[in-house]
Order: sequence, then structure tokens, then C-alpha cells
Amino acid sequence: MLAHKLIELRLQQAVRAVLPDADVAAVLVRPCPDPKFGDYQSNALMALAKARKMNPRQLATDVLARLDVSEICEQVEIAGAGFLNFRLKPAALAQTLQAAARGEPLFFDRAAPPRTVVIDFSSPNVAKPMHVGHIRSTILGDCLARTLRLLGHRVITDNHMGDWGTQFGMLLLGWKRELNSAALPSDAIGELERLYKKISADCKDNPATLEAARQELVKLQRGDGENLKIWREMIALSEKQFDAIYSRLGVKFDHMLGESFYNPRLKPLVEELVARGIARESEGALAIFFDDVPPLKAHPALIRKSDGGFNYTTTDLATLEHRLKTWQPDEIIYVTDGRQQLHFQQLFAAFRQWMEGTASSVPQNSGQRRSAALQVKLAHVWFGSILGEDGKPFKTRSGETVKLADLLDEAGERAFKIVSEKNPDLPEAQRREIARVVGLGAVKYADLLPNRQSDYVFSWDKMLALQGNTAPYLQYAYARIKSIFRKVEETSPAAPEQGEGGNIQHPTFNIQLAAPEEIALAKHLLNFGLTLAAVAEEYRPNFLCNYLYELAGKFTAFYENCPVLKAGHDTRASRLALCDLTARVLKQGLETLGIETVEQM
Ligand code: ARG
Repeated sequence: MLAHKLIELRLQQAVRAVLPDADVAAVLVRPCPDPKFGDYQSNALMALAKARKMNPRQLATDVLARLDVSEICEQVEIAGAGFLNFRLKPAALAQTLQAAARGEPLFFDRAAPPRTVVIDFSSPNVAKPMHVGHIRSTILGDCLARTLRLLGHRVITDNHMGDWGTQFGMLLLGWKRELNSAALPSDAIGELERLYKKISADCKDNPATLEAARQELVKLQRGDGENLKIWREMIALSEKQFDAIYSRLGVKFDHMLGESFYNPRLKPLVEELVARGIARESEGALAIFFDDVPPLKAHPALIRKSDGGFNYTTTDLATLEHRLKTWQPDEIIYVTDGRQQLHFQQLFAAFRQWMEGTASSVPQNSGQRRSAALQVKLAHVWFGSILGEDGKPFKTRSGETVKLADLLDEAGERAFKIVSEKNPDLPEAQRREIARVVGLGAVKYADLLPNRQSDYVFSWDKMLALQGNTAPYLQYAYARIKSIFRKVEETSPAAPEQGEGGNIQHPTFNIQLAAPEEIALAKHLLNFGLTLAAVAEEYRPNFLCNYLYELAGKFTAFYENCPVLKAGHDTRASRLALCDLTARVLKQGLETLGIETVEQM
């Protein structure tokens, strides 16, 4: 068990002994914000004391009398208004490192029991190119999926593609009147976009075109054979292009259930909501009202338009129902930009009314199932926009939205220049591969590093810099450690320190931590698991970015102050183990961000 978990468990036992009625689930141990005071800290006793009108320092003293963590910690200290500060004994620290050096997992515990989490992300709209705005949902969602999977949860990723809607009236008309079939094989989405733009421009000055497009839409919705066939073809063409981008980004989905998948369910769902009194008529349309939810009082959610068409919320309610039935998730995470906040507030509130209304009106089994559904945690993980260096939404020089494929090409080209300057002697194919990994990593990291809710400025120079908090810096730190091991091999070809996968398999030495830089590095390694847990808890990959950046800094301090290859036998083995653990955490951390590494840069 990890040190902080063990301390937490013992602390909870001690609290229970002093306050038998206390809810100890909130008694947590976290890294100490200032290492001057210790390695871990708990502030839980202050809240417990406050709720009971007790003196917090007295409570801390009583709890301390029942707490024994002496095998791993120095004397526990009470600080300030009742904080507890813990400092690990170097021997306990070395032991944890030694265990990690023997095999996985690296400083984290796998979830027990695992939770089932559905993640809805990327979700682009068919027949439109994926642009730079979609990158955030794709990269953030993928990182959350990787984090939760690493922690042992059951993750189901579902791409809720926008493959249905009014745009298909214009697309169908364009396809029939203006299609340039020759353009389809090379750039289908470009051609579809051209058709859409052409017809929607025509619609503005020509009511007959508008009416013709509307008729095409109605025919599609009624299931007209020809229109369905064209619609399917448009989707297949779009998916092909999306797939190419996803494979370039290294992103996979378990399911691609687009909006159209739910069409058959919309009508009966709306009827059910009306019959149960959850939706009612409003100016010819049907809506769900939220009289008990003050911020949503003025924002009813439309579920059927006055022309009989269904809304975004209707599809999302059907989607929610399907996911609950199919996968019984504990949690559903939706990753979209911040402009959809109101939509998701309405969706979650509508869902609650629906389930509550049903739970009270339907007895027995299905009622129980519904109330189980109410337990699901629904999270809207939203993000801000990407801005150009002029502070306005990121566009090409000619004012077009930047296409994702072009952006990734440019990242690779720019990285290739940098790699070639640094390493002119490497063969070109190898430089190309390094550039691919570095360019992609830079774009992803630039997207994950800022607080997701703020807008960020897209800057090639900043994201590709080899110094500072960037992916290339971290990838370089990793490659540099790998070069230490290459030197080990050169000097002693049968070096026993490194096993086959680059890991130290069976260290026959003891990890010894003496220099302050060694201890600081070791303690930081130990916080990897806590960081992963925080990413999963708050949906914030930036915690992991900053953790890795600090890790690379602590490693540099260690490497500058503690000779590795020139040290005596035991110290050398111990320090090589620290190098190896750092490399493994860097690699696993970057992998969790969806970023690859190379052995040499
Ligand atoms: N297709 C939508 C868009 O591009 C995003 C869908 C998000 N997921 C959902 N279940 N509503 O804006």
C-alpha cells in the first residue's frame, strides 16, 4: 500500500476511536503544500472539531494519542489550528521505491472496486471538417479515458457524432444538383462542405432553394430510399476522414453511436414524458420546465419543435437512457466546449425530473431500476477556446478556421526543422519519426497544460520550445535518461542493472537515499498516484502536466548534484534505479496524456 494511503487508513482508525460517530471518509491525507512542514498533511480534524464545537488542537492531541504510524513516519506534528503533518522515514521511502523498481504499478493503487465510466467526447458533426476546436474535446477526453483506465476503472468511450439534423436538407440538395464526384475520393469532407456552403448561400437569396432543401429534409426524415442512401454515403465518407485523424492522434473509440442511432426512440420518449406530466406544451412546442431549479427557471428545455422536429436535448435524453440500460455506468462524462453549459444543465435537470417522476409513479422493480439510475454521476467537462496570437479565435491567415489535418502537418514540419538542427547526423527517416512524435506531443500538451476552462493562445514557438513546460522538454528529459543507460551498456556490456523492457527487474542492491536532491526526487515520484487520482477526480489533466514538469526539474537537480556513473558500486546502482524509475514515470505519465516518447532525440 502507498505511504499516504496507509497513513490515511491509520488516521481514520484513530479518529473513529476518538469520535465513534464521525464520517471518516472525509479524513484525507494529501501532499503537504510546503515541504518545510512535512511530506503529507491532513486538515480534516479542524472541520470535525468545528462541527462539534471542540477545540481543534485538543482533538488533534487526542487523535494523535491513538495514532501509530511510527514504522513509516517520523514524529507526527500538530501545526497551526490543528493540521497534522507527516514526514516519511527515509527507509520507508526507499522501500516503496524498491517495490516499484521490482514491477508495476508505479506508485498508484488500482481502483477497488472499479467504477464503470462512459466518456462522450470528440463528437464532431458529419460532413464538416474537424477543425481545431474539436481537438480539445478529443485530446481532453482521450486523456481522461487513459487516466481512468490506468487506475483500473472500466471505461467505455462513445463518439456521439452529429450525423442527423437540418443541415442534411441542404447537403442532399447540393449532392443532387452540384456534386463533383471526382473530388470525393481525395477530399470528401471538403466537397461536402463546398456543397453545403453553396446551397446555404443560394437559400439566402432564393426562397425556392430554401423550400427545395426543406423538402429533401422531410423526405429523409420520412425514410425516402434515395435520400437515405445518399445520407449513408455522406456519413461513410466523413467517418473515413475522421478515422484517419483519430489514428494519427492515437485515439480510439469503443463506440461511435451517432445522433441518428437514437431516432427511433425519440417519438415514444416524448410521448412518455408528456404522459407523465414531465413535458408540457408551450407556444406550439413541447418543453420541460424547471420550476424547482432557480437558475433554470427561465430556461425550459425544448424537446419537440412546433414543426414536429426533435431537439438536441431530446436526442441526448434518449442517449442517456440507452447508456444507462446498456452499460449501467456509475458515471458519464461529457467533454464539450463551454458554450454548451446551459444545454448540459438542462439535460441533467430534465433527466432527474424524468427519473424521479418515474421512480415515484412506478412501483416495484422498474421503480428500483430508475432510482438506481438516479445514482449515476453526470459531469459536463467543459473547456475554453483556442485563440490566435492576436487574442481572437484561432484562424488561418486568410480568416478560415484551421483544419486539424493541416495543423498536424505543420506541427510535424516545424518539429522536423528543430530535430534536424539538433541532430543533423541522424538518418532522415529517424528524424521524421522523432518529429512526428514531438510535433504531435507539442500540440497535445499545449492543449492539456492550461486550466481547461480558460482560453489559451496557440503559439508554435512556445509549444515546440525545448525549454520550459512543454512536451518536447519532457520527451527530451526522458531521452536523456535513456542515454545514461546507453552509456552504462557501452561501459559494461553485460550490465545487470537494466532488464529487458528497460526496467530494472531484480535489483540485488538497496536503494539508498542520502543527498537532499535524491530524497526530493524520491518523494516526488511517490506522488504520481495521487496526481492521477486528482486528474480523474477533477477532470484536470493539467495536474499531471505540472507534476511531470516538476519531476523533470527534480531529476535535473538530482543529476547535477549526485554523480551516477562515477559513483561507487552501491551508490551507482541505487542512483541508476532512481534514473530508471524517473524514466518510467515520465513515460507512463506522458502516455497517460496521450503523448509518445522516443529513446533518442
Ligand atoms: N456534436 C456536438 C457538437 O459538435 C457535440 C456532442 C456532444 N455530446 C453530446 N452528447 N451532446 O457540438
